Amino acid sequence: MSGQPKIALRGVSKVFDVRGEGEPFTAIHGVDLDVREGEFLTLVGPSGCGKSTLLDLIAGLTTATAGEILLDGAPITGPGLDRGIVFQQYALFPWRTALANIEFGLEAKGVPRRERAEAARRYLDLVGLNGFGGRYPHELSGGMRQRVAIARSLAFDPDVLLMDEPFAALDAQTRESLQEELLRIWEQTNKTIVFITHGIDEAVYLGRRVAVMTSRPGRVKEIVTVDFASREGDLRAGPRFGEYRHHIWTLLRDEVAAAQADERKVVGSHG
Ligand SMILES: Nc1ncnc2c1ncn2[C@@H]1O[C@H](COP(=O)(O)OP(=O)(O)OP(=O)(O)O)[C@@H](O)[C@H]1O
Ligand SMILES: [Mg+2]
Repeated sequence: MSGQPKIALRGVSKVFDVRGEGEPFTAIHGVDLDVREGEFLTLVGPSGCGKSTLLDLIAGLTTATAGEILLDGAPITGPGLDRGIVFQQYALFPWRTALANIEFGLEAKGVPRRERAEAARRYLDLVGLNGFGGRYPHELSGGMRQRVAIARSLAFDPDVLLMDEPFAALDAQTRESLQEELLRIWEQTNKTIVFITHGIDEAVYLGRRVAVMTSRPGRVKEIVTVDFASREGDLRAGPRFGEYRHHIWTLLRDEVAAAQADERKVVGSHG
């Protein structure tokens, strides 16, 4: 690794005040994480451990309660055109057609109308939605909406892509083909990608490092470097893939067990 990290989190915590609850709620606590320029980092962790919270912080949609988050060495102060985000729940503009949704980021960047339309069609094709460009979000299925959101963020071509379980709602074939496309785009463009997933296989297949988070309050428990001698053939079926999968599975199982023990304690103290 050379130079400064693309994204750096130093002792980042996020505490929420929850309506009707006396105690403030610590979602993540003391997160340290470096994401290198051009790296594909996947992030896994138990449900509710603070993954989406972490992504929102990097996106600049919320601010940290403690610690700092740097982008190219400078503190993040809000959202920016340098970062594209695909949310866990499809966030499309309901009043715009699929194509017009994809064009949105290009308008913000001042891309001329013709180029915009061409790019939008290309990315609509890429996510397998040829023929659905004129539909409004409510006229699309959940998985289709998510694909429009993915196309929108790719067309927008940001330096940093922040993706929150983008493929979770898709069928296996569509998911695999979008995984391939994303890897291809990543290899060609040197984007920095932070990708949250519940799928251990997906984390190992896509990530060059996999950050495993603890249960709430989330911290980074371990970062697993994924390195295959060759990616030819059926990577997922190889022994090496199995070893990574098992290692991450074990880390996560321990975290889920810890979270459940914690819950029992809380329930016990109230009961
Ligand atoms: N705006 C908010 N106000 C209060 N609590 C919040 C808020 N946003 C998130 N939380 C809490 O913070 C914790 C972490 O939430 P977050 O959405 O980051 O988890 P996650 O790891 O993305 O989970 P999942 O895998 O289920 O998507 C949860 O317990 C959640 O209830
Ligand atoms: Mg989440």
